[in-house]
Amino acid sequence: MGNCNSQIGQYYSVAIKQPGVSKSQRMQSWSSTASFDKIFNHLDNNLQVYKDVVAESIPKIMSGDTCNFFAYGHTGSGKTHTIVGYNHEDPQQIGLVLSAARDLFGRLKELNSQNGLPAATLAIGLRMYEVRKKSAYDLLNARVECFVREGPDGKTHVRGETEILEGGRVRVRPIVMIPCWTFDEFRKTFQTGLNLRATGTSTVHDKSSRTHAIFELEIVNQSVVKARDAIIERQAELVPHGKYATDVYIEEHKKGLIQDSNGGYILNPNYTINQNLIDLAEAKKREYEKRVEDAEQDLKTIFHSCSHSCLGGKFIFVDLAGSEYYNQESVSSSTGK
Ligand SMILES: Nc1ncnc2c1ncn2[C@@H]1O[C@H](COP(=O)(O)OP(=O)(O)OP(=O)(O)O)[C@@H](O)[C@H]1O
Ligand SMILES: [Mg+2]
Repeated sequence: MGNCNSQIGQYYSVAIKQPGVSKSQRMQSWSSTASFDKIFNHLDNNLQVYKDVVAESIPKIMSGDTCNFFAYGHTGSGKTHTIVGYNHEDPQQIGLVLSAARDLFGRLKELNSQNGLPAATLAIGLRMYEVRKKSAYDLLNARVECFVREGPDGKTHVRGETEILEGGRVRVRPIVMIPCWTFDEFRKTFQTGLNLRATGTSTVHDKSSRTHAIFELEIVNQSVVKARDAIIERQAELVPHGKYATDVYIEEHKKGLIQDSNGGYILNPNYTINQNLIDLAEAKKREYEKRVEDAEQDLKTIFHSCSHSCLGGKFIFVDLAGSEYYNQESVSSSTGK
């Protein structure tokens, strides 16, 4: 094992050398680049891991940044034990998600006491979902199937279920985020989601994760929650107006064309396209597009005008599934829910 200095700390590399071989043969030995900065031993509990690995990121979250933590390793190596934990009461044993929430609530308490206004009170919004192949399953929304898509902004979006509402409104919810105002509330919400997590028996143990699980902890307040709901509602309202504008355009242009004797399309001399109808439908659609833009702007304003830079700060924890399950064709939840 070798080590090297880096600007942000001391990092170690792994080297494999064959003992008792000549120098030329030793060329086949291998050294990794600087890859890790700490090894824990069997006496280190989850709180120790939290203190050494995660706690130093708290100032970044409190200034609105996002920090990601991935647990990767063979089945039974302790990924779920570390990220989620199997004991949710003992502060020494709780997983990184609960330790991070507990620590963050401690920081938010002080800021909340300065706020005074209920809408400005800071909370931790929890999202938790499993990912398997191209689908995600929302653990805080009855494990409904959601879809992972690349958006026009080039970013990855996880889209929840599509609901058809009255008046032709079509609502597409993102992964559900539950705002938790106390640590106890957070722990209960977390437990509710975990009860839906798919587990099974691996060659090593019987609580093997069958999907990758993602836990997002975001600092939010009531205004952010409301503003995000408003965007979803206004997007739902836009759908029927957008559809109507498209339908009117197609219908008018269809009436305005006829087929000639050769099967080609020519202008219909007996029909004048009702441009006024098309323009009216287009104007209505534009009006509803503007309502979506205004709602999006409202959300941006909340973030920009908030006196606390921590708003939107996010921890993301990922508990990967052991590959022996991930490669299987089908998956079922042993919880039966
Ligand atoms: N550091 C640890 N201290 C005590 N027990 C541990 C530790 N790490 C893992 N275990 C125990 O080993 C078993 C397997 O751990 P865990 O479920 O975390 O594995 P995993 O890496 O998530 O496996 P899989 O990929 O199959 O989901 C559990 O019973 C867990 O409590
Ligand atoms: Mg696991």
